[in-house]
Amino acid sequence: MTISTASAIGAAGTPETDELAARIATGLPGGFVWGAATSAYQIEGATTEDGRGPSIWDTFARTPGKTRNGESGAVAVDHYHRYREDIALMAGLGLEAYRFSVAWPRVMPTGSGAVNRAGLGFYDRLVDELLAAGLDPWLTLYHWDLPQSLQDLGGWASRETAHRFADYTDQVATALGDRVKHWSTLNEPWCSAFEGHLTGRHAPGVQSTHAAVRSVHHLLLGHALGVEALRARGVGDVGITLNLIPAESPEDSPAARDLVRLVDGQTIRLWLDPLLRGSYPEDVVADFAKVGAELPVEPGDLLRIGAPLDWIGVNYYAPHIVVPGPDPDPAPMPFVGGADLTRVKSTDDVTALGWPIRPRSYAALLRRLDADYPGTSWYIHENGAAFLDEPAADGDVPDPGRLRYVAQHLDVVREVVGDGVDVRGYFVWSLLDNYEWSEGYKMRFGVIHVDFETLVRTPKSSALWYSRLIRDHRAAN
Ligand code: NOJ
Repeated sequence: MTISTASAIGAAGTPETDELAARIATGLPGGFVWGAATSAYQIEGATTEDGRGPSIWDTFARTPGKTRNGESGAVAVDHYHRYREDIALMAGLGLEAYRFSVAWPRVMPTGSGAVNRAGLGFYDRLVDELLAAGLDPWLTLYHWDLPQSLQDLGGWASRETAHRFADYTDQVATALGDRVKHWSTLNEPWCSAFEGHLTGRHAPGVQSTHAAVRSVHHLLLGHALGVEALRARGVGDVGITLNLIPAESPEDSPAARDLVRLVDGQTIRLWLDPLLRGSYPEDVVADFAKVGAELPVEPGDLLRIGAPLDWIGVNYYAPHIVVPGPDPDPAPMPFVGGADLTRVKSTDDVTALGWPIRPRSYAALLRRLDADYPGTSWYIHENGAAFLDEPAADGDVPDPGRLRYVAQHLDVVREVVGDGVDVRGYFVWSLLDNYEWSEGYKMRFGVIHVDFETLVRTPKSSALWYSRLIRDHRAAN
């Protein structure tokens, strides 16, 4: 399928975003990777087909009150059956790379033991189809859909899960390592640990500081054992994908500075320090100790977790803006020891989820990552925005808010790359409107609109703008 929408492409941008596109196209170096991202549970559907076992998200979504209107990924956007159409859409837009995740419960329905060939077969076909369409596959091994059987044995709060992850990784690498070059072990382990085990807003819905802190270490250990399995199979380009959310405060008091330190510690340094510096940050360990929680580190673990990586994937949407004082919002806080902390809710310049649009925070984050972790290569593995897009009468789907967000944030990438920060590629989140976890289907992140009734796909104006940018970048390099 080709996108024959020259006029729509011309009409996609505004003078502002056209100007940004022109300088991004000429400002980013040749070889910069252009892609889009998705994850298995958010798009595939077919949750009981071909022997797939249940995951913690199937269980969580079935539990009353956990997700918006009880919505689940049971059908999602039916990518399991429509992947060929989706790949053709990507190829038509001129994308070069596609970041997707493998569902562990398809490959190993109970999380360990024999491989389910029919489940693995889906990814085999997907990868072949991607390569045939000229798209480079970027595979994420774990994007939150833990097999339920492993949760029943303790999930990420148990050290055993890290070993099971390594076994699963080994099987996927054996099957796909000949064709997939780029491997990410985990997606946003911060969310798995803190949203999954502290606030309980994500599966498995546990609310325990102790379990959250244990999960942090076991996720990192699982990553390390997964990297070892990948290296042993000779797969080359390996990293991990983290949501590196910068913390900011409009106040400049000692209490505000300490809260910024606390939030920054748990969202950024808790992950990057052991991965890139070989140790956990002392102040974060001390914050955990204050509430009686401890990272269950065993001898040799940190050496393994600190093994060299080829890159870090950065997911960025918005900063955490915090001020001291008790939070009037009763929603649980995703930080350990954050009792006296209020998250400021912006009212101006926000996405449909209320997330503040702050490209300057993004610039500061990327510069800070480069300064604090020198010598690291970065890929933007997710960046994008939720808006409530609907088709216009003529069938086009204008999404000016997302288009502007993506243009402004890509311009930041151009700016910092120009100053020497080693960012090598950009994957917009998301390729398609999809299942936004506990938020269900209301919040649309796609550059391609999906009618959730008919499952018809329609590229939005942001997709057409992005497509033209990729073409112009190619022409300029
Ligand atoms: C990060 C997660 O990796 C992805 O699954 C989610 O949909 C986006 N953020 C937007 O919230």
